[in-house]
Amino acid sequence: MKLWRKTTVLFLCICCGILLYCKPKANPTFEKDIAPIVYQHCSNCHNPNGIAPFSLLTYEQVKKRAKTIAFVTKNRNMPPWPADPHYSSFVGENILTQNQIELFQKWLQTGCLPGNLSKAPKTPEFHYKSFLGKPDLVLDFKDTLFIQGNRLDKFYIMKFPFELDRDTFVKAIEFVPGNTKVVHHVNGHIIQYETGKKTNIYDGKHIVSSESIEAEELYKQLHVANDDGTYPVLTQSAINYLPGVLPTLYPEGLVGTRIKKQGAVLFKDIHYGPSGRDTFDLSRVNIFFTAKKPKRIARELQMGTLGITDIVPPLVIPPNTVKKFTTQAKINKDISILTINPHMHKLGKSFWAYALKPNGDTIPLIKIRDWDFNWQYFYTFKKMVKIPAGSIIMVEGVFDNTINNKMNPFHPPREVSERAGSMRASDEMFQFIITLLDYQTGDENISLEP
Ligand code: HEC
Repeated sequence: MKLWRKTTVLFLCICCGILLYCKPKANPTFEKDIAPIVYQHCSNCHNPNGIAPFSLLTYEQVKKRAKTIAFVTKNRNMPPWPADPHYSSFVGENILTQNQIELFQKWLQTGCLPGNLSKAPKTPEFHYKSFLGKPDLVLDFKDTLFIQGNRLDKFYIMKFPFELDRDTFVKAIEFVPGNTKVVHHVNGHIIQYETGKKTNIYDGKHIVSSESIEAEELYKQLHVANDDGTYPVLTQSAINYLPGVLPTLYPEGLVGTRIKKQGAVLFKDIHYGPSGRDTFDLSRVNIFFTAKKPKRIARELQMGTLGITDIVPPLVIPPNTVKKFTTQAKINKDISILTINPHMHKLGKSFWAYALKPNGDTIPLIKIRDWDFNWQYFYTFKKMVKIPAGSIIMVEGVFDNTINNKMNPFHPPREVSERAGSMRASDEMFQFIITLLDYQTGDENISLEP
């Protein structure tokens, strides 16, 4: 064969190889093609202990829903990942490739072939109501909480006391919602009792409706104070939950929280969205200890609603409009960002945040093109992001108060505003929470993959 013919044949072979590799196989099977995708991208939520309403573990379970699966994966509704992966990327990013999406389509069209099921990858097991494995301590509601179906928001303060055998460190705290249809948010703190300061940490009420009661009266009813009437130390925002939030876990020993052996988790507060029918909730808190003393203590910068920066213009969204708002924060000393959380309610349409460096360069933080109220993750960067002193963090949110927005709580649309930081789901919020450290040399090379 002449050399040029040899080269052409080789070239054609490579092209065919690439085509075959990129094009979904003619007859995909559960064994070879579908199970690996489902186990990697779906089963951690779709299992009997997970947050999704049904399991995707066995051939039968996946086959039964093959049609809906083909639909929701094509629309990129599942797996849920609102952040634009071309703008910035995060730990645990869960996105299907175009090829994987087409495999689901093909599998459906060719009759959901099982393949040789005995050779399929091992079905993953999920033994705990947790994303992180076996919790060291579980604090749960003593009893189910009744939620009246009167279409009103409900707010409670709850106290979950605990006693350990010594002071220790916590590497992760996870809130696991019982009833995901109504749990809207949790902001949780840790009460730290100094040894000998309180005789009975279990004293007082454990749950109080927080509507129209002053904080002081609430604390009285919960018997939060020490025996002598002074207040214990409160570690703020140790747990945050919003719809769809998964727990944040940093590498062992990097950042964490110290806890005293006597303490309590304090929800201040837990918010249930409106429900049209009577229902119940039985949520829980999982705590994961670590023997390693964390090297650094993270803190939060909260922008926008209830935060340190103003929203421009003030957050008022007239009916039948799509309107843009911004909020900015000047950073005075070098910081390292670990995690960010964009937050809006049901009129949210898009969210964009970046940092503008003093030299005019931008550092991308997050872009969400289609805001999804149901998935409000705390996004952890793969490596810490350094923001140099003098930078400005710019946040832009667009809200859609027209009938085109399927989530609009009002028909016809009404004026919706922030109402002094009201957390009701029918009021709006525009908030950006940043978890950060003071910058240290080399931070930008530290991986945050747990
Ligand atoms: C982060 C958790 C999570 C992951 C990961 C996830 N799902 Fe889901 N999925 C859910 C939840 C929660 C619901 C229920 C949503 C609701 O009730 O509105 C759901 C609903 C669904 C539905 C029903 C949709 C409908 O309209 O009836 C399908 C089908 C589905 N998921 C398939 C998948 C597939 C396939 C994957 C992986 C490629 C996946 N999911 C990954 C949490 C998840």
